[in-house]
Amino acid sequence: MDDILRDELNKPTVFKDEEPLQFEYVPDELPEREEELRKLVRVFRDVIEKRVGSTQSALITGKVGTGKTVLSKKFGKMIEDKKGFDYVHINCRRYNTAALAITQVLRNYDEKFPERGYSVEEMLRSLFNMLKVRDKYLFLALDEIDFLVGKSGPEILYNLSRISDDSVGDFKNRISIIYISRDTSFKNKLDESTKSTLRDNLIDLSQYNKSELISILNQRVKLAFNPGTVSDNSVELIGDIASEWGDARFSIELLWKAGKKADSEAEERVTPEHVRWAKAETHPEIREEILEDLSKNHLFVLLAISRLLKGTEKAYVTTGEVKEHYKMVCEEYKEKARGHTQFWHYLKEMGNLGVIDSSISGEGERGTTTMISLPDIPAKMLEEKIERYLQSK
Ligand SMILES: Nc1ncnc2c1ncn2[C@@H]1O[C@H](COP(=O)(O)OP(=O)(O)OP(=O)(O)O)[C@@H](O)[C@H]1O
Ligand SMILES: [Mg+2]
Repeated sequence: MDDILRDELNKPTVFKDEEPLQFEYVPDELPEREEELRKLVRVFRDVIEKRVGSTQSALITGKVGTGKTVLSKKFGKMIEDKKGFDYVHINCRRYNTAALAITQVLRNYDEKFPERGYSVEEMLRSLFNMLKVRDKYLFLALDEIDFLVGKSGPEILYNLSRISDDSVGDFKNRISIIYISRDTSFKNKLDESTKSTLRDNLIDLSQYNKSELISILNQRVKLAFNPGTVSDNSVELIGDIASEWGDARFSIELLWKAGKKADSEAEERVTPEHVRWAKAETHPEIREEILEDLSKNHLFVLLAISRLLKGTEKAYVTTGEVKEHYKMVCEEYKEKARGHTQFWHYLKEMGNLGVIDSSISGEGERGTTTMISLPDIPAKMLEEKIERYLQSK
């Protein structure tokens, strides 16, 4: 066995450091987004220069992989270098109720802040106190805010708008909010008082074209690969493929996988053939990280859909069929199937995520038939991916 270890570790690799290829990585510079970063700074100029609270908020929108999250985090890094400012980034897909999200913010100040026992109102008050005691101003990024709104309803918006409103009396104006959403019309979902804090601080990120993707990729090549191991042709091809989606994440994933393929074949350079191979096994719609964010029951439903679609010539399945099959999957995994309302919820959420295609209307109405299909991904591939994933849990 020792031989295997030694042998593998001795093999050459195209990678210098794989970390910059991880999705969470925030590079020092953001190619092609400098103007947007500048705009974000301008929106909050007063807060930064005068150390006052903000009556303004910002909204970043854009499709998948257009750099919304990284733009906000980059701003956060810059701001945290200045004394007296904190930046907290909350993913509202994961923390999708007001209580969960705010608990998460509080944990940045008090690791042991309890999950239960306080109302949202009380938690907000605690937060203001903590900021006041430390004399800090907070930039709070609420990423994928749609999920929070979807689950907690409009009250949370009202509460949030009060954070930067003067109605909290003595504690006013220590928090500035950056909303992040894929939905360009998200502004319309905000209540009037929250909307007014946005003014025209809207930053809409367009999908990347080929040349933009190439400059993003070149940065990662420099950071993550040994010099001379990735040919320009390969980068060019990735840019070409990914430009169909305009998605930087997909392009970085292709780059990483192509590198892995080159290593596995013990080749010294990443070639277009490795890229083509990477493309064949990557589907931008279904990513590992998306599976990670889904609950076990979501995955059971998704598994049911892929099994049904795999076995037929049909492009669609009905919700009725899916529900029956979902029960079978639950039995197989020895879990109790959830009820009708929950089941609808799972479908709806996965529809929102773009994991499935459907046109579900209404809230779990009985008797409604909706056709469900998968985006451009083979059902069999998805099935295998979920099974493997569930096994690894
Ligand atoms: N201009 C850029 N420069 C460098 N890296 C970028 C740039 N834009 C995006 N990226 C990288 O591409 C990946 C996707 O970006 P990001 O996560 O910010 O997308 P997003 O718009 O938040 O997507 P989603 O809607 O899926 O959340 C990340 O790894 C990010 O670091
Ligand atoms: Mg994001």
